[in-house]
Amino acid sequence: MREIVHVDLPGRAYDVHIGPGLLAEAGAHIAPLLRRPRVAVISDETVAALHVESLRAGLARDGIEMKVLALPPGEATKSWQQLQTCLDWLLDLQVERGDIVVAFGGGVIGDLAGFAAAILLRGVRFVQVPTSLLAQVDSSVGGKTGINTRHGKNLVGAFHQPSLVLADTAVLGTLEPRDFLAGYGEVVKYGLLGDASFFDWLEENGPALAQGDGPARVEAVRRSVRMKADIVTRDETEQGERALLNLGHTFCHALEAATGYSDRLLHGEGVAIGCALAFGLSARMGLCAQEDPSRVRAHLHEMGMKKDLRDIAGALPDAQALVALMGQDKKVVDGQLRFILARGIGQAFVASEVDGADVVAVLEEALALS
Ligand code: GLY
Repeated sequence: MREIVHVDLPGRAYDVHIGPGLLAEAGAHIAPLLRRPRVAVISDETVAALHVESLRAGLARDGIEMKVLALPPGEATKSWQQLQTCLDWLLDLQVERGDIVVAFGGGVIGDLAGFAAAILLRGVRFVQVPTSLLAQVDSSVGGKTGINTRHGKNLVGAFHQPSLVLADTAVLGTLEPRDFLAGYGEVVKYGLLGDASFFDWLEENGPALAQGDGPARVEAVRRSVRMKADIVTRDETEQGERALLNLGHTFCHALEAATGYSDRLLHGEGVAIGCALAFGLSARMGLCAQEDPSRVRAHLHEMGMKKDLRDIAGALPDAQALVALMGQDKKVVDGQLRFILARGIGQAFVASEVDGADVVAVLEEALALS
C-alpha cells in the first residue's frame, strides 16, 4: 500500500511518499535528484543502529553511496554544538550545492539536519526520511527547521522545504509504544483542528492502528500529511492559518518547560494533554459544547495516552507559574498570548482575545484534579 501526498508550493513543490518498505526503494526515489551518486545522511545512534543498513542497501541498489553521521538521540541534540558538528562534517565531506543531505530520524534529526542544509553553502537541498510517527505526520513536512537555545525551543531556524519525504511506515514497528503514542498525539491534533470525520475515523481505528494495523497506519499518516500539506501550501510562513497546527501547543510548551523537557513528558504527550486543555478552555469560554473536552479525553484514555495533568509524574507548578511559562512561547504576538481554540471537534481557529483569568481557571481546575 503506497500513498503520495503532493505539497504544491510554487517553485518548491515536493512529494511525500507514505507506505511500508520505502527504505528499500530510497535510491530509486532519490536518484533523480542527484548530480552525483552520493548522499550525506544525518541520523541518531538509535535509528542508525536499527535501520541504517536498510537505507544503505536501498541506496546501493541504485548505485548511490552514503556517508553517515550518527548523533546522540534526544532533544539535547538540537543544539548550537551539534549544528556545528553537522556543518563541519558536511564541509569535511566537501558537500556541494548540487548534493543532497538526508535527514534520517525523528523530529530532532529532521529539524537539525534541515537547518544545517538550509545554511550550508547558503542552502543545499535535503530529503526527509522520518522514522518516528511524530516526524512522519508533522515535523518532516512543511519546512520548519531549527534548533533550541538557552532561550527556548525552536527559536533559531529557517523555513527550508525538503525536496522529497519518504515516510516508511514499516519503520514505525520498531518504536517503543510510548513514543508511538506520543506521535499519535499529533495525529489526533489533525482531527481536532480541521476534520471531524478524521477524528471519528480515529475513534474507530485508533486502537487497531496502535496495535500495528499497517493499512490503518498508512491511512492515518496520509490524512495527517494531506491536511498539513494543504495548510502549508496556503500559509507557508505562518502568517495565519498555519498557526492552527499549534493546537494544544501553548499549553504543551508550558508543561514541557515545567517538566524540564524531560522524560516526564514527551512532546506528543504534551500536545495531547494540551489539546484536551484547549478544548476545556474553549468550552469554558462558551465556544464549544461542554461534551467536546470529555470526548477528546475519552479517546486519549481509550488509546492509553496521557490526557490530564494528573497523568504527568511528579509535582507541577501552580496555574500562574504555568501561564508565565506560556509567555516564553514563540506564539506571543505584541505581548499577547495566542491560543488555538475550537468551536467544536474539527473547527479550530486562532484566538488572540483570551482572558488570562479563564486560562488560569482551566489550569487550576486541572491541577485540582491532579
Ligand atoms: N508543527 C507545526 C508546523 O509545522 O507548523
